[in-house]
Formats: sequence, structure tokens, C-alpha cells
Amino acid sequence: MTTVHPAWLPDEAFAAVARRGVGLVLPDTATPPGAGPGDAEVLATLRDEVAALGLHDGPTGLRLELVHREPSEARDPLGSPAPDSSEGFRFRRERGHVTVTAASPRALLHGYFHVVRLGEAAFAGPDTDGTHAPASALRMLDHWDNVDVHPVMGQVERGYAGGSIFYADGRVREDLSRVREYARLLAAVGIDRVAINNVNVHAREARLLTDDLGEVARIADAFRPYGIRVHLSVSFAAPMTLGGLPTSDPLDEGVRAWWREAADRVWDTIGDFGGFVVKADSEGQPGPFAYGRDHADGANMLAEAVAPHGGLVHWRAFVYNHTQDWRDRSTDRARAAYDHFAPLDGRFADTVIVQVKHGPLDFQVREPVSPVLAAMPRTRLALELQVTQEYTGQQRHAVYLGTAWSEVLRWRPWGDEGATVADVVGPAGGLAAVSNVGDDRFWTGHPLAQANLYAYGRLAWDPTLDPVDVLDEWISLTFPGAPDALRAGLHLLLDDSWRTYELYTAPLGVGFMVRPGHHYGPDVDGYEYTPWGTYHFADRDGIGVDRTRATGTGYTGQYPPPWRDVYESLETCPDELLLFFHHVPYTHVLHSGSTVIQHVYDTHFEGVERVERMVRTWESVADLVPADVALRVRERLAEQLRSATEWRDQVNTYFFRKSGIPDARGRTIFS
Ligand code: GCU
Repeated sequence: MTTVHPAWLPDEAFAAVARRGVGLVLPDTATPPGAGPGDAEVLATLRDEVAALGLHDGPTGLRLELVHREPSEARDPLGSPAPDSSEGFRFRRERGHVTVTAASPRALLHGYFHVVRLGEAAFAGPDTDGTHAPASALRMLDHWDNVDVHPVMGQVERGYAGGSIFYADGRVREDLSRVREYARLLAAVGIDRVAINNVNVHAREARLLTDDLGEVARIADAFRPYGIRVHLSVSFAAPMTLGGLPTSDPLDEGVRAWWREAADRVWDTIGDFGGFVVKADSEGQPGPFAYGRDHADGANMLAEAVAPHGGLVHWRAFVYNHTQDWRDRSTDRARAAYDHFAPLDGRFADTVIVQVKHGPLDFQVREPVSPVLAAMPRTRLALELQVTQEYTGQQRHAVYLGTAWSEVLRWRPWGDEGATVADVVGPAGGLAAVSNVGDDRFWTGHPLAQANLYAYGRLAWDPTLDPVDVLDEWISLTFPGAPDALRAGLHLLLDDSWRTYELYTAPLGVGFMVRPGHHYGPDVDGYEYTPWGTYHFADRDGIGVDRTRATGTGYTGQYPPPWRDVYESLETCPDELLLFFHHVPYTHVLHSGSTVIQHVYDTHFEGVERVERMVRTWESVADLVPADVALRVRERLAEQLRSATEWRDQVNTYFFRKSGIPDARGRTIFS
């Protein structure tokens, strides 16, 4: 069996903490404040981590100590690190000695990994004393894993890193040691919840909720030592398909009782279970619409079932008509989530988190931020991101997404003086993201895609972090002792790679243009005459979707000021989103000074040149990394270059044919 790549936790990452030692201070574990199920296991994990370093815990004479104190004594110096004091910790450095104090084993584990991540830097510099706490208590990863291998999607829907780490041969894996290693990686970046099955819940996977609960409990056992809770995606039709009831109507008393009993059984089996994730009335999944009910009715029914157990319902806002007639110009998929959900603000129960994709369409390389995030002040909201690179190169292309996510998190829906998206989801809600992990020995297929998983965890914990600093952090941990040339090379290859991908794919925010079904590679008209609602409307004169209030679908009106006007006007709409909001002639002049058509040509040539540079950069440093990493990255970069070239040529040729306008610089465009 090949060994699994250590990602950001190679032995060397612990060298500094092993050499210098660290004080870990915890209140009396007999009655830890904020005690949750799993505290004993997490404490045992800390002891194991300590022992593995060759250090020992104990009260005297050792460099790493778990000091048991009375709860009040340990809690006081923490103040009240919002929002979840059970996760915040205090980091103190005095004359090079580091002490972490926390009010729960989970928080102490966060603090321990904080020191590990800092490495030598944790011990260097002036004395310091401060508290650290996550911006949100919900930092979740969603796995779109199926138990069975799906005939079209494979085992992991939109999975680009092999099969599932949870399931094999039609059941939960016997050996879950890999899941435990995964839990450790996730804990080291602050993830606290994992949903373990696909949001499209097929018949086999529906049974995880009932017949297979014992098996789900085994997965929960593998996550628990690292303080991570398990969630399940459930089917809204479960009372019928699993329970044999004649209906799934959320207002039916029999249906409500079925869900209550189902929840009771889950929490009887897994005391610290997290809750349910639901994709309802979306892309063929069942939901409350069949009974004339709305999404609040559906979500609140489940809330009633999970509430007695302290559980949560993550109810997805990804609801739209996927059987649209392409001839119908009045239906705009981008409007759908807001139209369905904004009117329900204030009706969702406290235990419901409405989970909103970052953009109004579907994880495109460039979309405006979803207006739903600004429209539901009385609802707990989670921002949904996609670490798996469905539309951003499918882990064959090196694309660092930390920069893209940071832009979303820092965006201010009410203008410069208002709150950010991170503030909006803030303490009450949180973040969720589709994982990019599979049973591949590098975890993520492309070894450099590990950076995205790392960055997601770090930004979920602290959305104000600079994503480029986070990238450097990842480089330092994953390539310990890297010479400057390697660090610089990796940085150069990745730091602007999101923008590079944008350059050679769908221009100016127009989106899609991918091969239908698998979504890899260019197909400009692939979705143009389909029922999916993702059109670009290119003709001989121009391109783009008119979403203005004046002449289009009115989508701009879903934003608060100033954005409703910024996007509405051609004068002020940012170039990178122009074709998302407006239909313009190819000769329209951008703020950059270029015409739309020349921009298309220039960016596509530049995108491929950048990928050529990425290949050269890698070749200049590949000798400095382990041979298996060098080889895998080399193979993927070759594919990225092939694919980027194909994108360039198809997109350029398509628009040359449509517009008849040649490249001002006379480069090769196939006719
Ligand atoms: C995308 C993706 C689907 C997925 C869906 C979702 O449309 O292509 O595979 O099921 O998003 O988020 O539910």
C-alpha cells in the first residue's frame, strides 16, 4: 500500500514545538466549561500528539504540560471570545516560552495547532498575550460522496481525487484510519463539522439515516477525537421512501412524528451528531413544493425534530427551475434563490441555517456575490463555497481559490461603510464548502489543490486573513525547509492562478461555456439551448445577459444600494462582471480601454502564456520536491496547458466567427 501524503502536517511541521515545548493549560477536566461529548477523546488526542513529539504531559519539569485548573481560573483570562467560548484560546509568549490556555479540550487543540502552524515564529519576537477565537462556530465541509458508485457521476459527485474515503464496496469502509488522518488535517486548520454524503441523496445513501446508523457512528468515532461533528444529507422524501408513509407533507402530523423519531434514533446512536443538510426542490430532489408548502415549512419541520438534541438543519438555497425553456427570456436563474428565499426571512426556526452559494448561479470562476446574503437579516445564513474545482479546472488545473473566496468574504453588500459578507454570516451562521478530498494518495488529486482545502479552513476561522499570506503558510508547512527558490516558485505559480484560469476561460463574468454534464473544458454553446438557465446570448452583434431593471430581467434590483445602481449602469458596472449584467456589442469599450472583442482575444492569449510560465516555473523547482509530487504536478500542468490552449482557440474562434472582427494584433485565430 502506498503511504498517504502528509499534506500540511509532515513530521517536520512539529519540529519547532517539539524543540521548544509549549504549556497547554486546561481547567479541571472533570467539569470543563462548555463540555461537549467528545471532550475526553479530544483530551486523549492532545496527550497522543504530545507523546508523539517525545514530550510528556504532567505537572512538573516537562516542557509540555496539561495543567488541570479550576474552571473559573482558566476561564477568566479568556474573557469571552465570541461567539463560542468553548473554541477560543489564549496565546501567551513570555521570554520565548509559549503557553496556551483554553476552556475546553477542543479549544486547546485549536491553540495547539495554532502553535504548530506558527512553527519557530510562535517562540520568536516580543512578549505577547492575546485571545483567538473563530469568527463563526460553523466551519463545515460537505462531501458529495455516494456509498455506491453512481453510473454517471462516479462515487464522489464532482469528485476529482478518486473514490470516497468513507465508503467502499457498497458500505462504510472497514478501515477508517484514513478518515482519522483527515480529521487531524481538518482540525489543524479549524474545521469543526463534516457532512459525509452527497446532497443528491440516492436510494442507497438515504438509508444512512436508518439502517446504517451504526456505520455512520463509526465515521463519527473517527472524527470525534479531533473535535469534529458529523452531519448527514437527508432526502425530504425519506418518510415515504424509508418510512412507507403516503406523504412527505411537512405539515402532516405523521410525517413530523416520523422525523422526530428518526432524529431521536440518530442522537441515541451518536450523541454529538451535528444535524441534517437538505437539498430540496432543487435539480429533481424532492421538497415541500409538492404539497404547496414553502421552504420555511419544510425546514422548520426538520428543525422541530433536531432542536431537542441541539442539532442543526442546513437548508440549501440552491433552488431554481432546471427545466426552463431557453426561448423564455423572462425567467432568469440568477434571480431564483432570492425570489424563493428573501420573502421567507424571519420565518425560519433558530436551528435552521440557510446555506447560500456564493454566487447566484453555480460556483463559476467569476460571479457577483449572491444578493440573498444581504436580504435575510433575520435568518442564520451560511456561505457555501466549492473547494472541489467543478468549474475551475477539476483539480487538473492549478487554481488557488483563497483569493476568490477572500473577495467574497470581504465584499460589502451595502457599500464601503457597511458590513462585509463575513460579518453577515458571522457568529450566527458560518461557512460550508464542498470538499475536494478523495482516496487519492495526495488527498486532492492535484497536490497543489491541497492549498485550497487549507485556505478554506483558515479563512473560515478568520475571514480577515490575507489569502496570499495563507498560501505562504501552506507552502511553509507542506514543503518544510524549502529553499527560497522553491517557496518563491510555488508562490509565483499559485498566487494569481485564479485570475489566470479566468483569463483563458469564460470572459467578463459571462460564465459556463463548459461541456455539459461533466463541466470540463470549453463548449461555448454547450448550454445555450438547454433547460438549465445558463445562457450567454451571443449573436453576430454582441454578447451578455441583460439583467438590468431598465431593459432586462431586473436582477440588479435584488441588491441593496449602492450595488443595485452600480451594476445597473454600463458606466459603473465593473469590467469583470460586465457580461453577467449587460448585453453589449463586441465593440463596446471597457473601462480598461479595450473593446469587448479585443479583450476576449487578449485575455485568452495571455491566459495561455501564463500557463506556459507556470510550466517553466515548475520545471525550475521540481527537483526541490519529492519525485512523486514533481511528477504528479508535471502531468497536471501538461494537461492544464493543453486544456487552456483548447479554451483559447475555441473561444477566440467562436467570437471571431460571430463578430467577424479580427485580432488587432494579428495573432493566430483559427477561422
Ligand atoms: C451543481 C453540480 C451538481 C450539484 C449541484 C448542487 O449544479 O453540478 O452536481 O448537485 O451543484 O450544488 O446541488
